[in-house]
Amino acid sequence: MRIRVHARFYFAAILAVGMLGWITPSAAQQSSFRNAPASAAEMKNPYAGSATAATAGKKLYAQDCAQCHGNNLQGMGPAPGLDTPAVHKATAGELFWFISTGKLTSGMPSWSNLPRPQRWQIVTFLESRANQKTAAK
Ligand code: HEC
Repeated sequence: MRIRVHARFYFAAILAVGMLGWITPSAAQQSSFRNAPASAAEMKNPYAGSATAATAGKKLYAQDCAQCHGNNLQGMGPAPGLDTPAVHKATAGELFWFISTGKLTSGMPSWSNLPRPQRWQIVTFLESRANQKTAAK
C-alpha cells in the first residue's frame, strides 16, 4: 500500500515538472518582439558580429529604410525609431522575421523581396548600433 502512495506522488511530481517545461516557452513567446513566432526568434544571423556586414547593412538601410525611419534611426512620423530598447532586446531572428513580414496595415512594407543575405546585413547593422550604445556606457 505504502509503495503505491509513493508511486502516485512521484507521478504527480514528474507531471508537474513536465508541465512547467511546457508552460515556460509559451510565456516567453508572449513577450517576443512584435509577436514573432518562436521558430523565427531562434534563427541565427549568419553575419553576427561582422563589421563588413554591418557596413553593407548601413548602406542598405540608407537606401530602403531611412526615408521612413530617419537617417539616424530616430524615427519619423508613424515609423518608430530603431535605436530603441525594444529593438535592442529583440533577437536577430525576430528582427529578420519582422522586416521580412512587415506590417502593411500600419505602413511597414514587407522586405521579403530583398535577398535574404541583404536582410541579414540590415539586421547586423541594427544590432551593431545596439552594441555601440552598450560599449559607450
Ligand atoms: C514606407 C515607410 C517605411 C519603410 C520604407 C520602412 N519602414 Fe519599418 N516601419 C514603418 C512603420 C510605419 C512602422 C510601424 C509599424 C507598426 O508599429 O505596426 C515600422 C516598423 C518597423 C520596425 C518595428 C519597430 C518596433 O519597435 O516595433 C522595424 C524593426 C522596422 N520597421 C524596420 C525597417 C527596416 C529595416 C526597413 C528597411 C529595410 C524599414 N523598416 C523600412 C515604416 C517603414
